[in-house]
Amino acid sequence: MRPPTRRGRLTAVLAVTAALITLTGSMSAQPSAAAAPQAAALPYQDASLPVDDRVDDLLSRMTLDDKIGQMTQADKDAIVPASDIATYRLGSVLSGGDGTVSPNNAQTWADTYDGLQRQALGTPLAIPMIYGIDAVHGANAVRGATIFPHNIGLGATRDPALVQRIGRAVAEEVSGTGVDWTFAPCLCVARNDRWGRTYESFGETPELVTSMATVVDGFQGPGGPGSVPASVLATAKHYIGDGGTTNGTDQGNTQLGEAELRAVHLPPFKAAVDRGVGSVMLSYSSWNGVKLHGHKYLVTDLLKGELGFDGFVVSDWAAVDQLDGQTGFTAEEVSKAVNAGVDMVMVPHDYKKFISLLRGEVNNGRVPMSRIDDANRRILTQKFGLGLFEKPLTDRAYTSTVGSAEHRALARQAVRQSQVLLKNEGGVLPLAKSAKLFVAGKSADDIGNMSGGWTMSWQGRSGDITPGTTVLEGIRESVNDPSRVTFERYGNGIDGSYTAAVAVVGETPYAEGRGDRPGAMGLDQEDLQTLAKLKASGVPVVVVLVSGRPLDIAAQLPDWRALLAAWLPGTEGGGVADVLFGDHRPTGKLPMTWMRSASQQPINQGDGKDALFPYGHGLTYGTGTDPTPTPTPTPTPTPAPGPGSCTATAKVTSTWSGGFQADVTVRNTGTTPLTGWSTSWDLGSRTVTNVWNGALTTAGGRATVRNLAWNGGVAAGGTVTFGYTANGSADGLPVPSCTGTTGT
Ligand code: BGC
Ligand code: BGC
Repeated sequence: MRPPTRRGRLTAVLAVTAALITLTGSMSAQPSAAAAPQAAALPYQDASLPVDDRVDDLLSRMTLDDKIGQMTQADKDAIVPASDIATYRLGSVLSGGDGTVSPNNAQTWADTYDGLQRQALGTPLAIPMIYGIDAVHGANAVRGATIFPHNIGLGATRDPALVQRIGRAVAEEVSGTGVDWTFAPCLCVARNDRWGRTYESFGETPELVTSMATVVDGFQGPGGPGSVPASVLATAKHYIGDGGTTNGTDQGNTQLGEAELRAVHLPPFKAAVDRGVGSVMLSYSSWNGVKLHGHKYLVTDLLKGELGFDGFVVSDWAAVDQLDGQTGFTAEEVSKAVNAGVDMVMVPHDYKKFISLLRGEVNNGRVPMSRIDDANRRILTQKFGLGLFEKPLTDRAYTSTVGSAEHRALARQAVRQSQVLLKNEGGVLPLAKSAKLFVAGKSADDIGNMSGGWTMSWQGRSGDITPGTTVLEGIRESVNDPSRVTFERYGNGIDGSYTAAVAVVGETPYAEGRGDRPGAMGLDQEDLQTLAKLKASGVPVVVVLVSGRPLDIAAQLPDWRALLAAWLPGTEGGGVADVLFGDHRPTGKLPMTWMRSASQQPINQGDGKDALFPYGHGLTYGTGTDPTPTPTPTPTPTPAPGPGSCTATAKVTSTWSGGFQADVTVRNTGTTPLTGWSTSWDLGSRTVTNVWNGALTTAGGRATVRNLAWNGGVAAGGTVTFGYTANGSADGLPVPSCTGTTGT
């Protein structure tokens, strides 16, 4: 049985064919819209056939030009005229970081998408194009979308189930704009905070990043691409070693032995592959001097062979024409990348040249036809899986989810769970809601600064770039009397009458390249001057640090009574206020080791360096409610309470030196639905470090994991899966026992 398609229910094949005839008929202006599909469904158009059969059938009908087109991805703005999508049979379109539509709203994005898709549908075989975008913390190119914390903040939550829910919310918003594919998640393990993409990383340890691969299930659906409505293809990027370059230089060289490369940078990719990720993007960087885009061993042998990745590999933006270090494609670069295992090339501009070069390399035998067919098989399998052939146009039912109240509430929860309290001298936090407060700092009232790069534009920008709640607004909404809150960006006008001063300071937006900090890593002059004014007033200073990474703040820290690392929270600043006022106690833990000085970079857990705050550090205070992980209980009508029968099986999903990750699947082997379950196993010398989709207790050398509120219900014959990471060896892992409950 095939899973349901991404865009909802399967449509009768004849209806699809009829629709295409209508569609092509209405596009008489386009040259290649001429050949309408036959009235009788061809096997590849028959959604009831297995995907493999559909792919075989379609491949047998494709010319070399059709196949090369499928391997070509061009930037929307480079495709002039738009009918080139049909003329050149382009398989994919993307919007780069500065790609936009006008006016920028979800509706225009959806209309633009549908217009481009109609071009693809107007070709003789009507193969839909797949549209990709960097939805890396929300549908972040779309004005009005919910902007979630960047990955570094999500790493601080240590909550993979929350991150999966965020993936789902992002997929819904992205689907509402028509877009099929996100260039996310970045599964980079950022080892040097000088790297300007550190905030795209969930953290510095392979364990933490690996645990967050749950976001893939959020984007695609737990059953893989097309397994839920509004399923969006995910991209594990940037394979491999992007976060391990020397000096943290973007697109640099990762100089490591193979064992260390595998131990530190491979586990998250393995986890994503195990979850059925549809695509993998290669890294611009090199491994020991050899660029990934030409690295056959790492791409074909390791990723596709050893890990068994059966999705497709996409190159990074113009990365193939960087292979020889000169701008402009050459035939050698194209054949090198494709033969190394690149299936789709993010050209992104000169698609005509790329197509003619690849055609030449096939015709002269340097790229074997078997490689072209393999690439096409991989790409088409994902397109069929997503349901693109059945529902190629935007599902407008999701357009209204863009920036919805529900998604903003989820983002606010993520913001509060991502706050890491690093210092709280004399218990200055939580602040009283009746306090007289002075708020200052360049990021207190700035959605752009709070959102960082990859928000409305590639590098991001300060200011009112999209609707949201700033930290200042969140504070004003939380206090009893907003007139007791004074805001002055530079700290001017503060006097001794205030209970506390809240300074919201840190980094201004940046992305790849420009974000690298090879020199000093401290606060800028404006922040230092603002802080000096606050300090001079004698009022206790609470610093909220808005930044994409730990900063070099050791010299100023003694002046501050409290320090809250807010990372790049996005549009829902109310989540910061939730923690400042104790409506929710802080629970975030450092995803990165915090340097004592920039000269310590790189500094990471276990390297013996004397950190200012260690990896995992995070204080709390006793008031407020705990974060509520993952509600949505599944109502299961059940008979009288009683025992249920179940089995549990454990599968190791990745290993690294000193630890591993495993999935445990609970199966209801009885005839009545389970309303709860509990599994238990002997730990031996292992320790469990993280559990998701389950609640852990350990006692007497045994680990017990029970269901959470939302995943206790298991139909007869059904399964649920939870995951965990552990220290120790995965060898000889015992089979867990399982106890089930039925009834309520
Ligand atoms: C694009 C980005 C791309 C970058 C690479 C920018 O113009 O918008 O998507 O990553 O160029 O140089
Ligand atoms: C970045 C990728 C991104 C691509 C498309 C590149 O410059 O490295 O992460 O997906 O541009 O925007």
